[in-house]
Amino acid sequence: MDAIVLLKEDHKTVEALFKRFEKAGERAHAEKRKLVDTITKELVTHAYIEEEIFYPAARAKVPETTDHVLESVEEHHVVVWMLAELKELDPADERFTAKVTVLMENVRHHVQEEEQDWFPQVRAAMGRKESQELGERMTAAKADAPAEPLAVKSAGS
Ligand SMILES: [Fe+2]
Ligand SMILES: [Fe+2]
Repeated sequence: MDAIVLLKEDHKTVEALFKRFEKAGERAHAEKRKLVDTITKELVTHAYIEEEIFYPAARAKVPETTDHVLESVEEHHVVVWMLAELKELDPADERFTAKVTVLMENVRHHVQEEEQDWFPQVRAAMGRKESQELGERMTAAKADAPAEPLAVKSAGS
């Protein structure tokens, strides 16, 4: 699958989970816990394949986007730390939903920048064949993604 198509599919999967979280009742603690665990798995896997494969390839292909790459890594940094905190937080805690809300705002902003400002530049510079190869490598790398949010490279300073 084409690299950018694959990443956009992941974004859609996460957005659908966000919508489910927003619809969950205030006291639906078990449901919220399950949703956040699934969101964590999806986001950690996605951040991992972007950081290991897509970001370096995009940076090498379009060096003018280096600032985008670096800012994106810092945005991942914030997201994985929030995910690590949510792992330890009781869904009944008054900070839980607030933390998820801020996480969702961050991710939505990040996705919008990737899809609108940055990916089109990569798409224009990268041939179909190269993009397909990247997509295949990312699909395979999903199996190697860590479970722990802080095991993703961007978690470090
Ligand atoms: Fe990203
Ligand atoms: Fe992404």
